[in-house]
Amino acid sequence: MNDDGFDSLAIRPTDQADMPDLMQIAAATGVFKRMELQALSEVLHDFFAENQAAGHCCVTAEQEGQALGFAYYAPAAMTDRTWYLYWIAVRPPRQARGVGSALLHHAEETVRRHNGRLLLIETSSLPHYKLTRRFYARHGYDVAAVLKDFYSDGDDMVVFGKRLAVVSERTAGKAEGSIS
Ligand SMILES: CC(C)(COP(=O)(O)OP(=O)(O)OC[C@H]1O[C@@H](n2cnc3c(N)ncnc32)[C@H](O)[C@@H]1OP(=O)(O)O)[C@@H](O)C(=O)NCCC(=O)NCCS
Repeated sequence: MNDDGFDSLAIRPTDQADMPDLMQIAAATGVFKRMELQALSEVLHDFFAENQAAGHCCVTAEQEGQALGFAYYAPAAMTDRTWYLYWIAVRPPRQARGVGSALLHHAEETVRRHNGRLLLIETSSLPHYKLTRRFYARHGYDVAAVLKDFYSDGDDMVVFGKRLAVVSERTAGKAEGSIS
């Protein structure tokens, strides 16, 4: 409990019983298409069926017993310690109050603990994702790639990336060697 008598925000592992809340939060943001919400439902089912055991992570932000947001992240297959943040969403009335930042920091800390090297996030170039893109930029993410018309004509995929570990000497040496 904080000085104002409110429980402070907790970030905890997502429980299977949270699924309806997480689906409701994602739908309430109004930014995800129906097929994306369907994909989220499948992702959460697969998470509890097998992917949690395979190293995927899902966390829920909770305050006063209410789920306010969640983040889902996992290692990218066939890479050397690259991770993906697949989902992050905050209940609209509670957006812009630090919940998303707390979830993102928690995800980054978990990835660092696993010696993760690079965290990637895919999002859309559409205007209604402008605040989302600003959110990633404010947290030190650079635009690593733009795939024109990926989602549909006029809707590019914008890939944000952030290095979470320093470039290893071996890799740096290779890069220098390739220039000279
Ligand atoms: C993006 C999101 C997770 C950020 O979480 P949040 O709790 O709202 O963000 P925080 O309060 O921690 O950070 C606020 C910053 O994020 C950005 N931001 C993102 N969404 C915002 C919103 N609805 N209102 C105001 N600022 C927002 C701004 O840059 C803001 O800082 P600034 O005003 O100083 O520029 C959340 O707004 C959300 O759920 N958006 C809809 C779903 C979504 O786009 N998910 C990502 C899909 S790729």
